[in-house]
Amino acid sequence: MMSKTWLVTGTHTGFGKQLAIQLAQHDDINLVATSRKAGQLDYLDQYDHGQIAKVILDVTKHDQVVAAVRSATERFGGIDVLVNNAGLGYFGTFEESNLEDVKYMFDVNVWGLVDMTRETLPIMRKQKSGVIVNFSSIGGLYSFPTLSFYHGTKYAVEGITGSIEEEVKDLGIKTMLVEPSGFRTDWAGRSSHKTMPTHDDYEQFTKFIDDMANGAHHEPGDPVMAAEIIIDQVTNHSDQLPTHLPLGKISSDLATDKYTKLLQQFKDERELSLSADRPERNDN
Ligand SMILES: NC(=O)c1ccc[n+]([C@@H]2O[C@H](COP(=O)([O-])OP(=O)(O)OC[C@H]3O[C@@H](n4cnc5c(N)ncnc54)[C@H](OP(=O)(O)O)[C@@H]3O)[C@@H](O)[C@H]2O)c1
Repeated sequence: MMSKTWLVTGTHTGFGKQLAIQLAQHDDINLVATSRKAGQLDYLDQYDHGQIAKVILDVTKHDQVVAAVRSATERFGGIDVLVNNAGLGYFGTFEESNLEDVKYMFDVNVWGLVDMTRETLPIMRKQKSGVIVNFSSIGGLYSFPTLSFYHGTKYAVEGITGSIEEEVKDLGIKTMLVEPSGFRTDWAGRSSHKTMPTHDDYEQFTKFIDDMANGAHHEPGDPVMAAEIIIDQVTNHSDQLPTHLPLGKISSDLATDKYTKLLQQFKDERELSLSADRPERNDN
């Protein structure tokens, strides 16, 4: 079997690292592992027998995005699976959030993913095959207080990926949105800036932010299992790849609950919705 080439962003820690460790042990996979700084991927050396490329990649730096994609194609002849994993969080009420931090999070979570995908899609179109795995979150489907802008980034990833899916599904290219709830990575800790409420009206949210920060690395989700599931879906179930993959019980529960309630709401509002169209457009 011909080897498949995976390029994964943000493989220094968390989901990305677990994906890299497992992909590095597959016989028929070439891995392009990426980190922002040199020396952060030494953990891969023990598995390297010529099938691993370690590349410096900050997804907010266009020249590095271009170079990472080019090094994958030069070294391995193409990219079969792109995993847009790199991402950050940010906690703070909508009113009190620091917009500089927020804009940087959009640069990573949204524009970095967009840049990587736009550089990779021409290669996949030429191959007439490929899979794009985009890390969203339960936070791309369901909203909590103090995460308005994080949700903004992940709802954006959901919307953008949905359109990409429609545009490339007849070209042999598939997309999969990964939507985890809490997993034991660095996300809730060092990878999420926090702005504590200063306004009395928002005091109640201090505990929520504290609890999230203190819960880092104690979440129910296991990134080792998540990586296994993602690799298995892409490798063995590509014919029926899920377009949305909530990971973890909390994610599955909240997504199901939200969409069940929304479905009922849409049904209840049916007459009201239809009443907005001009009468001749409501024939059927
Ligand atoms: N863990 C969860 O509970 C959870 C739930 C839902 C969704 N997610 C999503 O899962 C993805 C991975 O996060 P994680 O949970 O594995 O957290 P993590 O352990 O903090 O890993 C995030 C990775 O992204 C990298 N990164 C940050 N900014 C980057 C940039 N500008 N360019 C390239 N890489 C960058 C980090 O690199 P450095 O080490 O250099 O900072 C790190 O390797 C994110 O998209 C996150 O939103 C996580």
